[in-house]
Amino acid sequence: MQLTHFDIDRFLADHWQKRPALIRNPWGQWRNPLEPDELAGLACEDGVESRLITLQGEGLSLENGPLPETRFGAMGRSPWTLLVQAVDQYVPDVAALIEPFRFVPDWRIDDVMVSYAVDGGGVGAHYDQYDVFLVQGLGRRRWRVGPLCDADTPLLPHDDLRLLADFTPTDEWVLEPGDILYVPPRFGHDGVAVGDDCMTYSIGFRAPSRAELIDDWSAHQADAYGDEDRYEDPDLTRQDNAGEIRGAAIDRLHGMMMDALSDRAAFARWFGQYNSQPKYAEADWRPEEPVAREDVRALIAAGIALARNPASRLSFIRGDEGAVMLFADGVCFDCAGDMAALAVQICAEPTVLLDPALAGSGPAITLVTALLDQGSLAFEEE
Ligand code: SIN
Ligand code: CO
Repeated sequence: MQLTHFDIDRFLADHWQKRPALIRNPWGQWRNPLEPDELAGLACEDGVESRLITLQGEGLSLENGPLPETRFGAMGRSPWTLLVQAVDQYVPDVAALIEPFRFVPDWRIDDVMVSYAVDGGGVGAHYDQYDVFLVQGLGRRRWRVGPLCDADTPLLPHDDLRLLADFTPTDEWVLEPGDILYVPPRFGHDGVAVGDDCMTYSIGFRAPSRAELIDDWSAHQADAYGDEDRYEDPDLTRQDNAGEIRGAAIDRLHGMMMDALSDRAAFARWFGQYNSQPKYAEADWRPEEPVAREDVRALIAAGIALARNPASRLSFIRGDEGAVMLFADGVCFDCAGDMAALAVQICAEPTVLLDPALAGSGPAITLVTALLDQGSLAFEEE
């Protein structure tokens, strides 16, 4: 499916990270990619993150999955909604929904959450820290969108849910199948199903917080320094007041920190690996036995395409002289020359058809074999 009636450049200039956008059915032809029953089935599976939210009187109650199969027969009359996280990792047709949104780079994409609600069901007014495209898959949902919130915005007292205490919407729209609502980070929003069988696909993004970057990058760098790497002052001179921490000492201490944290090349390598770590251990494509190089060579020569594991995170960073660092599921592969072109190709498309001539290249076989062994790729035939 493609966005045929959608001006990407205009959207990026006017809306992305700025203000909400209602995009009325921009698809050539919209087709709901998942049946409600399949979603319910996923919510019962171990290892799949799911939540059931039920309206109880004035309030909402939360049950975390996996849900017992019998739960769906015992729903009662109260409006409810079921939410399943990362459905793109389990259902290829849902993974395909990300493709049209790849005008945003892959490293910013988180997952596709899918919700199902009966009439009146919803998760309550809230805000998220991330950008989201809310694609109406089936049925109708009334969305109310409010102003920008922040850490001071009052929340309702609730043990499990972060709900807005007083939500004053600025816009209200009823979305029909194929319609999309884009909500930037921290804009309040509230979606309520209008009629039964309401399915919404949330194409969710991620953006590292500064605090998380500082924590994780500095912890990574700290590992590289031994206990003997310490503050030194062989040039110490007497000072008037022993109680003073002199400016020169602070300069030296601050320098020790900054030297360790400001190495851009090391940061790029670390960030690529850090960002490409898979979120869930599920959708594990690792083969039981290590893959034989000869088999890889034969399949490439035969022109068999490689599929990317939808749960895998792949990205690359360009370096000097055409070299690239390829990142796949937390691992960095240094690639130069033809290998760099191969790495770039692997990151471009969900299915990779390699030039059969690469069957004669030792480094290409090594790279593909490593990616197969760690479950990031698999030959389509298998
Ligand atoms: C939903 O699909 O019901 C909620 C999605 C969201 O508000 O982020
Ligand atoms: Co939300």
